Amino acid sequence: MFYQTKELSGKECYQLLNSLVTPRPIAWVSSLSADGVVNLAPHSYFTVVCTYPPMIGFSAGGPKDTPRNIQATKEFVVNVVTEELTERMNLTAVEFPPEVSELEEVGLTAEPSRFVRVPRVKESPMHMECRLVDIHEYGPRPAYFIIGEVLAFHIDPQVTRNGKVDPALLKAVGRMGGAYYTRTTDYFELPRVSYEEYQQHHKHKRS
Ligand SMILES: Cc1cc2nc3c(=O)[nH]c(=O)nc-3n(C[C@H](O)[C@H](O)[C@H](O)COP(=O)(O)O)c2cc1C
Repeated sequence: MFYQTKELSGKECYQLLNSLVTPRPIAWVSSLSADGVVNLAPHSYFTVVCTYPPMIGFSAGGPKDTPRNIQATKEFVVNVVTEELTERMNLTAVEFPPEVSELEEVGLTAEPSRFVRVPRVKESPMHMECRLVDIHEYGPRPAYFIIGEVLAFHIDPQVTRNGKVDPALLKAVGRMGGAYYTRTTDYFELPRVSYEEYQQHHKHKRS
């Protein structure tokens, strides 16, 4: 199959991208409106932008509460979605009116942050407190690519082993195409290969 983008509708591009860029981690983003209403919404167009200073980015197709809130208050928190939280995460994607706080509505607990006014989701084992760095707008809708600097990381010791986050304990979920999700507990190790190791063990022999 081959498609030239100009022959595709917006929905078709969306479906192809969601099936190709996979699996995607989910940033469960809490934010505060200018009136102080806590908002919570999942975003799987999510990635690391820079490791030091730690910066992350995600894309929010507008017009939605998350980009509006972050534009107004310049802060947000990224909460990690685990298997146990998946159903409630999905409910926070319901289009509630702006005055409704998804967090309370779906039975989650707001926990104060240290450096931002936006609360964290207590039930999630890992949080990143973020300060807005940049918002880039793309397309007619537009989509907002939001970049934040991570001011602090919160990690529940219950998801760590020997001081490190253990994926078997974290049980994060990822997003696939359509309505599919993936678990992250079926994983394997593949160490990086140095150039010396490559030459010694991996280089294809040419006759
Ligand atoms: C798993 C999942 C991932 C999602 N990822 C995105 C995303 O990356 N960008 C986006 O704009 N919407 C995404 N959505 C849809 C938003 O969460 C949904 O439109 C939500 O109502 C927006 O809430 P808000 O108006 O409170 O910001 C996703 C939904 C789900 C369930």
